[in-house]
Amino acid sequence: MSEILVPASVAPPGSSRFVRACLRQPVDRTPVWFLRQAGRYMPEYMAVRKNHSLLEICRTPQVAAEVTITAAERLGVDAAIIFADLLLPFTPMGLDFEFVNGEGPVVHQPVRSLAHVEALRTDRAEELGYVAKAIEIVAKHFEAPRADGDTLGIIGFCGAPFTLASYMIEGGSSRNYIDTKKLMYASSLPGSPDAKAWPLLMEKLIAVLTEYAQQQVNAGADVIQVFDSWAGALSVSDYRDYCLAPTTELIKRIRAMGVPVIYFGVDTASLLPTFSETGADVLGLDWRVPLDEGWKLAGSGVAVQGNLDPITLFAPESVLEARVKEILALANKRPGHIFNLGHGIVPGTPVDNVIKVVELIKQHG
Ligand code: CP3
Repeated sequence: MSEILVPASVAPPGSSRFVRACLRQPVDRTPVWFLRQAGRYMPEYMAVRKNHSLLEICRTPQVAAEVTITAAERLGVDAAIIFADLLLPFTPMGLDFEFVNGEGPVVHQPVRSLAHVEALRTDRAEELGYVAKAIEIVAKHFEAPRADGDTLGIIGFCGAPFTLASYMIEGGSSRNYIDTKKLMYASSLPGSPDAKAWPLLMEKLIAVLTEYAQQQVNAGADVIQVFDSWAGALSVSDYRDYCLAPTTELIKRIRAMGVPVIYFGVDTASLLPTFSETGADVLGLDWRVPLDEGWKLAGSGVAVQGNLDPITLFAPESVLEARVKEILALANKRPGHIFNLGHGIVPGTPVDNVIKVVELIKQHG
C-alpha cells in the first residue's frame, strides 16, 4: 500500500471543523461556540457556584473541567473553552487579587512604578498547572468523535499583554486607563524614573504567558485564544507604539507550539488592520462592525470569529434568527468563519436562545 502524504497546510485527519476553520480550510458547516459559554446565565454553573467561589472553581481541575464540559454539552457547540480566568497568572507573579461581588476583580497593590514591575516574579508559572490538569480532563472526555463524526475543539486561553497590564496597573476594571497609559507613555521619556517599567512589564508578561500557554497546549488545547478585551481603548498609534510588538512576540511564540491563535478584543474595528500584523490565525470581531467589513479590514489572510451582539440573545426569535442569518450571509461561505458572539454572554441570557442559535447554525451554517 502506498503511503498517503498529507501536506503540512492540511489539518490532520480527525481534527475538528473548528480547528479547520481556524486554518481557513473547507468545513462541512460553520463551527459555533460562545464567549463565556459557561457562566452565570446557566443554572448548572450557578449550582456549582453555590458551593465554590470563582477562584475555587478555577483552581480545582475536576470542578473546572465539569463546568467546561457541562456547558459545551448542554449547548451542543463545536468547541469547549477551558473554565479559568484571565487574571490567574497574577498569583504566581506575586500580585494578590480577589473578585469582589458586583465590582469585579480588585488588585490590592496595583503596579505603578519600575520598582513594582521589578518585584513581579516570572519563575513560578508552574503553579498554574491546575489549568493544564483541567484541560487534560476535558480533552480526555471529548477525545472520541461525536455523533456527527466531528471532534470537539478544546480552547485554552490567556490574556494579552496590554489587557493584563491594565488590570495590574489600574487595580481593577477601568474607564479611561489613565495610569496604564501614563506608564506606557513614560517609556517614551528616557529621563523618566519609570522609563523602563512598561517594556519590562511586557517582557515579564510574555515570559509567564508563554509558559502558561505551553502547559495548556501540552495538556491538549487545540487552539489558544489571546484575550485583549480592552485594546479598543487605545488609539491605533498607541497600540502600534506600545502594544503591537509584545503582542506579536507572544502570538509568535504560541504559534510555534503548533496551534492556531485566536486574537480577540472589543471595539476594535479601527485596530483590525494592525491586529492582522500580529500573525494571529483568527481575529475576533465585535458586533459593532458588519462581519464582511471587519473581514475586509482584517484581510483575506486571516480567519474571523464572531460577531452576534450578545444582547440580541434577549430578542424575540424572529429577530434573533434574522441576525444569525445575516451574519452567515455576510460570511458568504468563505472558509475561515467561526460563529460566535461579539463579546461574552451576560447574566440573565435565556439559555434556550443560546441553544436556538446553535440549532440555526447547524441548519444554515
Ligand atoms: O466559558 C467561559 O468563557 C468562562 C471562562 C472565563 C471566565 N473569565 C470566567 C469568569 C473566561 C474566558 C474569562 C476571561 C476573562 N476574565 C476576561 C476576558 C474575557 C472578556 O469577556 O473579554 C476578563 C476581562 C476577565 C476578568 C474578569 N473576570 C472580570 C472583569 C470579571 C467580573 C465580571 C463580572 O461581570 O462580574 C470576572 C469574573 C468571571 N470570570 C466570571 C466568570 C464566569 C463571573 C463571575 C462569577 O462567576 O462569580
